[in-house]
Amino acid sequence: MSDNKKNKVWTIKKVLFWTSDYFKKHNIDSPKFNAEMIMSKILNLSRVKLYLHYDEVLPAKKLAKIKKFIKKRADHYPLQYLLGETEFYGHKIYVNEGVLIPRPETEVLVDAVVTYLKNSDKRNCNILDLGTGTGVIPISIHKYFEDKDCDINFTVTDVLSASLKNAERNFQKYDMNNVKLIESDLLEKVDAIFDIITSNPPYIAEEDWDDLPLVIKDHEPKQALLAGERGLKYYKSILSKSRDYLKDDARVFLEIGAEQAEDVMQLADKHSFEVLGINKDFNDRDRVMILKMKE
Ligand SMILES: C[S@@+](CC[C@H](N)C(=O)[O-])C[C@H]1O[C@@H](n2cnc3c(N)ncnc32)[C@H](O)[C@@H]1O
Repeated sequence: MSDNKKNKVWTIKKVLFWTSDYFKKHNIDSPKFNAEMIMSKILNLSRVKLYLHYDEVLPAKKLAKIKKFIKKRADHYPLQYLLGETEFYGHKIYVNEGVLIPRPETEVLVDAVVTYLKNSDKRNCNILDLGTGTGVIPISIHKYFEDKDCDINFTVTDVLSASLKNAERNFQKYDMNNVKLIESDLLEKVDAIFDIITSNPPYIAEEDWDDLPLVIKDHEPKQALLAGERGLKYYKSILSKSRDYLKDDARVFLEIGAEQAEDVMQLADKHSFEVLGINKDFNDRDRVMILKMKE
């Protein structure tokens, strides 16, 4: 953004156009959306309102802040970290650096749990979420059932204290008094039994790490993504250890990588779990495995 005299007056419209164009040149996906979101955040206006205030001139302080954000975003810093929030299952979720940005694919897991609970006659339910990150899975399930005749309590674990802090902030935002947070390596510090275990564990294979886009590799926590050889480390752990934490008729919902269904099915069989289904994501790729213990 040039500061020379001719271009001195920066209206909202002018900054929006300039920024979209700048992002396009820097290969940022959805450049107009990114420009709108940054300006909305800093001006504290909805995206629609930006267009209603199109000709307003930006105060120098706001303009300086917008410039800073634009520069970071053009360097491929994730938009969600810049904004400090994202949207998941229709809910605003705080997310800060050091914590995995929730992905839309995980909504398939939430859908699977919601469908299961709607079709069951459970009125009380204990759910354990392993590797909770921002807490999106429990929040989305809680919000779906909060006005319904189903009393749900959650236990969540994460190995990163940054994740648990971020999750706690989100649970407070949604007035959730029904969550127990445990800093734990998977099940290590858990001592209860559950109707449901959910997990979107790290599942990127060690051998695929170099091929990940820089926007992920450079900014998101490695511990939230990487999962050893073939990306199976956490499925092995969860399936080999979770029996002691499950009621007889309990269900396990695991998010899986698009190419991992075969391997995870073999692990399930090895540890006496029956695969009840594999749900696809919106790109028709295997995404969520639903399991129960064999008798
Ligand atoms: C792929 S992220 C999923 C986060 C969140 N559930 C979501 O769907 O957005 C995996 C999460 O597992 C956590 N994690 C990694 N290793 C773990 C371990 N050994 N025990 C517990 N959590 C772990 C990471 O910190 C991260 O929050």
